[in-house]
Amino acid sequence: MTNIDVVTGAFSYSGRFIAAQLLERGRGVRTLTNHPRPDHSLASRIPTYPLDFSDSAALVTALTGTDTLYNTYWVRAPHRGLTHGVAVENTKRLIDAAGQAGVRRIVQTSIANPTASTTSYYRGKAALEDVVRSSGLSYAIVRPTLLFGEGDVLINNIAWLLRHIPVFGIPGNGRYRLQPMHVKDHAGLLVEVGSELADVVVDSAGPEIFTFDELVHLLRRAMNLRTVVIHVPPVLAMAGAAVAGRIVGDMLLTRDELDDLIHDILLSHEPPRGTTRLTEWLPSHRDEVGLHYASEMVRHYLGPRPTG
Ligand SMILES: NC(=O)c1ccc[n+]([C@@H]2O[C@H](COP(=O)([O-])OP(=O)(O)OC[C@H]3O[C@@H](n4cnc5c(N)ncnc54)[C@H](OP(=O)(O)O)[C@@H]3O)[C@@H](O)[C@H]2O)c1
Repeated sequence: MTNIDVVTGAFSYSGRFIAAQLLERGRGVRTLTNHPRPDHSLASRIPTYPLDFSDSAALVTALTGTDTLYNTYWVRAPHRGLTHGVAVENTKRLIDAAGQAGVRRIVQTSIANPTASTTSYYRGKAALEDVVRSSGLSYAIVRPTLLFGEGDVLINNIAWLLRHIPVFGIPGNGRYRLQPMHVKDHAGLLVEVGSELADVVVDSAGPEIFTFDELVHLLRRAMNLRTVVIHVPPVLAMAGAAVAGRIVGDMLLTRDELDDLIHDILLSHEPPRGTTRLTEWLPSHRDEVGLHYASEMVRHYLGPRPTG
């Protein structure tokens, strides 16, 4: 028995909250990442290993002597050769390495309703759930809707757009729903199911459900903005996102993400596991939300040593 766990991306988004909560509980933490942060307050307590899928032996070494692997690895927006299919193969290598290293349990971050869409993102997530189930490891599969809180992308970037453009186009009728989960509640849920023994599959969703319309207006009101909000056909919203994406040098929204958003699948059909309400969180974060654009390209492709 060891009390050391491995978290992928312990200095990235959700991984940083998972690592912090594990350390608070007295666990040891190692991380696999291509974005080490020597300046981070927890860096001295988190030995860092490269998230290099081409080196299985190094992955096994990094995982040897550890108990639970908290796997957050995934590729949100495919870029160049790094597709969702490649991310699936990379994750298989990681799970295989965990098995070889004698890891006891894996906590796999999936997505809410993984079989409800046929986009490559969802197909990849569903395929990986099967890989985890048949890995021979004890497992927990956690399915988030969408996360919010310090460092998030989607809600932050909607807020950023509302701050920076005079007219915001809501794709389609805006009646599709979302059930945001605060990232600390999400991390707490992962750590909780990580400490259990039984195999478990659970949604990670917050206490409030909003239509996309409601969400946009909530943000607009919280930031006290006068941005005009209109409804536009999805194809026009996509064109707008492409133009805005060029301006900020990022993939603001992919076509698949737009399809999944309007298909009403970013919500859970289980009792909510999160307690933090976006409506209560926003007023105290109104000055920082959307202040800086959160760039997928900068985070994952232009930083040091992204791997494929
Ligand atoms: N954020 C959400 O709203 C949301 C919603 C539903 C599901 N999820 C799922 O939750 C998990 C964690 O999401 P997150 O937002 O916390 O992710 P993240 O911190 O941005 O990334 C998680 C891990 O994946 C690696 N990674 C991400 N993109 C990569 C790329 N293009 N190339 C190479 N490595 C890449 C990161 O590497 P580094 O360590 O090098 O940074 C990190 O180790 C993912 O499985 C995601 O699908 C998230």
